[in-house]
Amino acid sequence: MGDLVALLLVDHFAIGQFMSSGSSIKPVKLESVIHFKTQCHMEIEENVVFPVIESSLPEDKGIHETIKKALSDHIMVRRTGKSLIDIMSSEENDSVIRKAADFLQMLAQHDLHEDQNIFPSWFHVDSRRKLESLREARTIIEQYGYRYYQKATDLPEYMIRYFLS
Ligand SMILES: [Fe+2]
Ligand SMILES: [Fe+2]
Repeated sequence: MGDLVALLLVDHFAIGQFMSSGSSIKPVKLESVIHFKTQCHMEIEENVVFPVIESSLPEDKGIHETIKKALSDHIMVRRTGKSLIDIMSSEENDSVIRKAADFLQMLAQHDLHEDQNIFPSWFHVDSRRKLESLREARTIIEQYGYRYYQKATDLPEYMIRYFLS
């Protein structure tokens, strides 16, 4: 059986690698990352992974708070990502570059929060729920498109499919 959270960890890592390339970030690549993060990766977290973790640990107040923090980050990522795409299409100057760097920094912190404080709880989810989660995530990714997934993360399609199998 594949593992959905392993795929999300790899997404974080892959995008983190590209972000650490610093000033050489191309606007078209950044736009594809924002698109993927907000319309695929975060959708999987919000609609599959987070609810499954929460329902597997109903008594754990800590994890609920931790997930709440991640969800409020998502609102921020969507809002800032959208305004970044808007300004990137009209201008390219120091202020855009600075805003892009701030956005990537925020994203990196958010990803680290999930890696360290939320994803380890996947361990407590039973295998039947994990199997259902894989199916639900596959549907989201198929609707989004493997092509765009690959474009944002640079992960080959066979690798994405392996994690979802
Ligand atoms: Fe997230
Ligand atoms: Fe994430």
